[in-house]
Formats: sequence, structure tokens, C-alpha cells
Amino acid sequence: MKALILATLALAACSDDTALSVEQLRDPGTCKQCHPQHFAQWSGSMHAYASEDPVFVAMNKRGQRETNNTLGDFCVRCHAPMAVELGLTNGIDFDPATLPAEAKGITCYFCHNVDSVGELHNNGLILANDQTMRGGVKDPVKNSAHFSKYDAKMDSDVNESELCGSCHDIVVPESINGVPGGVAVERTFAEWQDSFFATDKRPGIHLSCGSCHMISKTDVIADGEGLDVPSRNFGFHEHMWPAVDQALTPFPETVAQAEAIARDLDPAIAIIGPIKLGSTAATGGICVTPEAGGTITVRIDGLGIGHKFPSGAAQDRRVWVELVAFDAANAIVFSSGVVPDQTDPEEIGDPNLKAHFDRVFKADNTPAHFFWEIARFDDSTLLLQPTTLDQNDPAFDHSVTHRYAVGVLANQIDRIETRVLMRALPFEVLRDLVASGDLDAAVLDAVPTLEISSGRRTWNRADIDSTTGCEPRP
Ligand code: HEC
Ligand code: HEC
Ligand code: HEC
Ligand code: HEC
Ligand code: HEC
Repeated sequence: MKALILATLALAACSDDTALSVEQLRDPGTCKQCHPQHFAQWSGSMHAYASEDPVFVAMNKRGQRETNNTLGDFCVRCHAPMAVELGLTNGIDFDPATLPAEAKGITCYFCHNVDSVGELHNNGLILANDQTMRGGVKDPVKNSAHFSKYDAKMDSDVNESELCGSCHDIVVPESINGVPGGVAVERTFAEWQDSFFATDKRPGIHLSCGSCHMISKTDVIADGEGLDVPSRNFGFHEHMWPAVDQALTPFPETVAQAEAIARDLDPAIAIIGPIKLGSTAATGGICVTPEAGGTITVRIDGLGIGHKFPSGAAQDRRVWVELVAFDAANAIVFSSGVVPDQTDPEEIGDPNLKAHFDRVFKADNTPAHFFWEIARFDDSTLLLQPTTLDQNDPAFDHSVTHRYAVGVLANQIDRIETRVLMRALPFEVLRDLVASGDLDAAVLDAVPTLEISSGRRTWNRADIDSTTGCEPRP
């Protein structure tokens, strides 16, 4: 307590109540001095990259051309919100290289200066444009740079995700694609609202976007004399927002970002083994059954995801199952989802392909590549979010069982191996952007294929439960 008072005095001594100007506070570089860890993490995040992202810049450019500039500031409103706020762009001829640091990507000031949330999609956040930084800290120590305010909207433990949700839900207006009512092309917030993480209000079960994507740890939240005291640990919230996407051009903190992506993604999707759910002993994992003359089944599930998966830019994501079956001599007797580099899973002509992503279509029902063309979507292959904690409710099991018809080959199978693979972007769309002169072809080489480690599973004939053809039950 004494340390707390000293810290307050120490900070107050070198300042009066005048905070830095709004202009100074808009620059993330201003925050770096006292919040170096937040700054370093944010600087490698997709929020910092949002306006730099070459695929974004290319799509926006092409979209303006193809819609006679009707797209306007629709895309930059979310990807460069401060540039719009400051009147530095109307979206047409958008070039991030011309923007100052205060207008690039989603900045510290943008999130920490939200006064209220208007529309719950297409970024309806309204800024205060003042010198007060809002956060989830109830009794922050005074500082010389800004005023501080506790705001429940920022506090991951209690909020209803509307701050994040307002940008993580996209409804393309009729004026852009001509579809009355608009097509909801990204629906992460709406999907979350259907999950028990949103509907169940009990503390510890009610989890907002920030609860899962801004993990908290015990650490200082600002550098300054007297602040690094164990009794003053408010909880540092991670500012990396790792998920799937990563920088495709030189950018800060790429190694830390890639490690955090693997940390969060690896346990999130699994080929799950046989587990007992409530009163039903579910089969699971990999099975070889006599069904339809010989079938391999594989059960896949999203675990602890607060929405569907993939989510958001689910029309661009590709998640698929690679399955290879061997005979006793180790020769391949059957395979599916074995996808070469720089080829999309749906391009390999595999009739058994099991892939999870949004199928999007133009008004004439041919596949769409871009937001402004999308008239209709089919999200039926997305892995479902958890909606109930009641193990006896049939909805509790939201896994998907994939079936591969292998016929008589089933008898020859001795071993089966699976992997779950994922890419953030489809090569067909990237090649389309290269062909129209909007994207540098070098970007294609930078798109990684991620392997989700809990999708690695093996079925061995020697170990199976002979009555079910499945891996033995626990
Ligand atoms: C309402 C806010 C919002 C609007 C409007 C918006 N985006 Fe995004 N964009 C996002 C969010 C959120 C993500 C991350 C989604 C995810 O990771 O699943 C994203 C991701 C992306 C990506 C990352 C790569 C990918 O596709 O996965 C690209 C490129 C992109 N958007 C392009 C655009 C373009 C072009 C437009 C306009 C036609 C646009 N966005 C409009 C919020 C928005
Ligand atoms: C001169 C140092 C200094 C600078 C510069 C600075 N801060 Fe702070 N900030 C602090 C201190 C000190 C605290 C309180 C720490 C504590 O209570 O342990 C704080 C607290 C905060 C809080 C918590 C507010 C709450 O009540 O939840 C936020 C959010 C914040 N700062 C954001 C920013 C942002 C964004 C910037 C850049 C625009 C910035 N700060 C620049 C020193 C600074
Ligand atoms: C996408 C929105 C967003 C961006 C961008 C952002 N923050 Fe935050 N930040 C938050 C939220 C939300 C919280 C509160 C989390 C909670 O309390 O549950 C927070 C909390 C904080 C806190 C309080 C301590 C803590 O860790 O909870 C500080 C300080 C802070 N941010 C500084 C920064 C700085 C500096 C930057 C830029 C380098 C930045 N933030 C960028 C959303 C953002
Ligand atoms: C101003 C709009 C905006 C706000 C507010 C916002 N985001 Fe984002 N977010 C984006 C955009 C745009 C991207 C994608 C940038 C890109 O890849 O080009 C993104 C990317 C992400 C990603 C990475 C997605 C991926 O596939 O890798 C995560 C996770 C995320 N945001 C979570 C959050 C959380 C949690 C909050 C609230 C604390 C939040 N966002 C607030 C616009 C926003
Ligand atoms: C219960 C935890 C949890 C909650 C709550 C949650 N998420 Fe996620 N989210 C995950 C996990 C786990 C993943 C998959 C692993 C990964 O990509 O990091 C994920 C992935 C994502 C992705 C990448 C999806 C893709 O396919 O590109 C985005 C974007 C995202 N979340 C945003 C949000 C937003 C916005 C909210 C709030 C409306 C939210 N999340 C709520 C756990 C959660």
C-alpha cells in the first residue's frame, strides 16, 4: 500500500493533470514508452497489419474498380478505421504507404477511445476523441500521458463482446452487391451469440472474445517507478490476437506471432477418439466399418471455440482432413486430401475430400471470389460452436463424422493416418488477384500450410475393437 502511494506520488510529481494532446495519443509510438509489452505484441498482430496486408490492399483496389467505386470506404472503415476517422482516405486509391503511423491498421487509440457502440456490424464504434484511455483496470495509477477510465465494454470478464463484435461481423450492403437486406459474409459475433459462452451468464462460463483471445497473466501493465509491485498486479492482457492469419510481407514479431498461432490452434480442432457422452457411448476416432460395403469414418470436432470454425473470413479459409490408408506391406491403398503446395484442396479432383469452409456464390450461382460478388453462402461444412453444457442434450455432441466409401479395399487396410491442415487463403483467389495486376505474385510463396497437431491420429488393425472396427474405447 505504501508502495502504491509512493508510485502515485512519483508519477504525479513529474506531471500535472494535463495529459498529452489527442494528436500525440493517436500515435501508437507514444504508448510504447510506458506500455512496451503491449506495444511489441500489438505491432506483430493482424490488427496492426490490417491496412498493410497486401491481399487486403489488392482486394480493395480491385473491388473499387469492379464496383465503379461503390465500395467507397466500406473496407477501410474496419481495416484502417483511424484513416477514415481523420479524413485521410475515402477508400478509393487506398495506399497504406501514404498513411502516418496514427492512421495505419487498428491502433491503440482506436480501441481505447471507444465511447459507445452503435451498429453491431460493419464497425459501428463511436470514438470520444478525448484524452481518456478506457480499459478494464478499475483503479489505475495516475500518469502524465492520459486520463484513465474503467469501462465495462473493455473488461473481458463482464462484457458482451460488442466492441470486438461490431467489426467481427460483416454485412455487405445492398448498394454494393445488389442483394436486398445484405449478405452476412463474416458472422463471428453472431455465431458467438448462439454459443453457451454468450447465453450462459455464470462467471467463468460466460466468456467474451477477449476472454479467449486476450489471455491474461499476472504482470505489470505499465513501466514506471513503483508500478512493478506484486500487490499491484492488475493482470496483463495479451495483445497479439493470434488465430490463423499471419503477415505475408516483412513485419515485426513474426516469430512470436507464429508461435502464438500454433499455441491456440493446435488444441482447437481434433480428430477425437472414442469418448463417452452422457448416457450414450459414442464411437469415435477412426473406424473401419462394413457400412455400405466398406467405409472409413473419422470424427472431427472443434474444442473450446466460441463460434463456428473456420469463422470470419471463412470463405477464404481452407481446413481439410488428409487421410492415408496403408496395407500390411506399407503400400498406400487409399488416400484423400493429399494436397500439393500452391494448390487448393478443392482443385485436386478428390471425390472424397472433407473440407471445412464457406462456399460463396454469385447471383448466377457460380462460385464467388470476392465480397462484392457474394449473393449467397453455404456454411453447412463449418464446425459448430458449443451451445449446451448438458451432456444429455443431443446438441452437446457437435462433432462431425466424415465417411469415406472404400468398398472392398477396407479388408486390406492395416493402418490409417490422419492430419488436419489449414490455410488462411485460397490460391485460386490469390492467382485471380495476380492476374488482374492487383497483387504481387511473390505473396503466394509466403502463404503457409498450418498443421493442427491434434488432428494427427493413427488407426492400427492390431489394436481395434473388433465389434465396432474403431479404436478401443477408454
Ligand atoms: C466490419 C469490418 C470489416 C469490413 C467492412 C471488411 N473487413 Fe476484411 N476483415 C475483417 C475482419 C474482422 C477480418 C478477420 C477475419 C478472420 O480472421 O476470420 C478481416 C480479414 C480480411 C482479410 C484477411 C485475409 C482473409 O481474407 O482472410 C482480407 C484480405 C480482407 N479482410 C479484405 C477485406 C475487403 C477487400 C473488404 C471490403 C470489400 C473488407 N475486408 C471489409 C473486418 C472487416
Ligand atoms: C507516461 C507513461 C504512459 C504513457 C505514454 C501511456 N500510458 Fe497508459 N498508463 C500509464 C500508467 C502508469 C497506467 C496505470 C498503470 C497501473 O495502474 O499500474 C496506465 C494505464 C493505461 C490503461 C488502463 C486504463 C484503465 O483504467 O483500464 C490503458 C488502457 C492505457 N494506459 C492505454 C494507453 C495507451 C493506448 C497509450 C498511448 C496512447 C498510453 N496508455 C500511453 C502510463 C502511460
Ligand atoms: C483491438 C482493440 C485493442 C487494441 C488495438 C489495443 N488494445 Fe489495449 N486493450 C484492449 C482491451 C479490450 C483491453 C481490456 C482487456 C480486459 O480488461 O479484459 C485492453 C487493455 C489494455 C491495457 C490495460 C492493461 C491490460 O493489459 O489489461 C493497456 C495498458 C493497453 N491495453 C494498452 C494498449 C496499447 C499500448 C495498445 C497499442 C500498442 C493497445 N492497447 C491496443 C483492446 C485493444
Ligand atoms: C476496427 C475493427 C476491429 C475491432 C474493433 C476488432 N477487430 Fe479483430 N480484426 C479486425 C480486422 C480487420 C482483422 C484482420 C486483419 C487482416 O488480417 O488483414 C482482425 C483480426 C483479428 C484476429 C485474427 C484473425 C485471424 O484469422 O488471424 C483476431 C483473433 C481478432 N481480430 C480478435 C479481436 C478481438 C478479441 C477484438 C476485441 C478486443 C477485436 N478483434 C476487435 C478488425 C477489428
Ligand atoms: C471460448 C473461447 C473463444 C471465444 C469466447 C471466442 N473465440 Fe475466437 N477462437 C477461439 C479458438 C479456440 C479459435 C481457433 C484457434 C485459433 O484460430 O486461434 C478461434 C478463432 C477465431 C478467429 C479465426 C477464425 C478463422 O477461421 O479465421 C477469429 C477471427 C476469432 N476467433 C474471433 C473471435 C471473436 C470476434 C470473438 C467474440 C465475438 C471470439 N473469437 C470468441 C476461441 C474463442
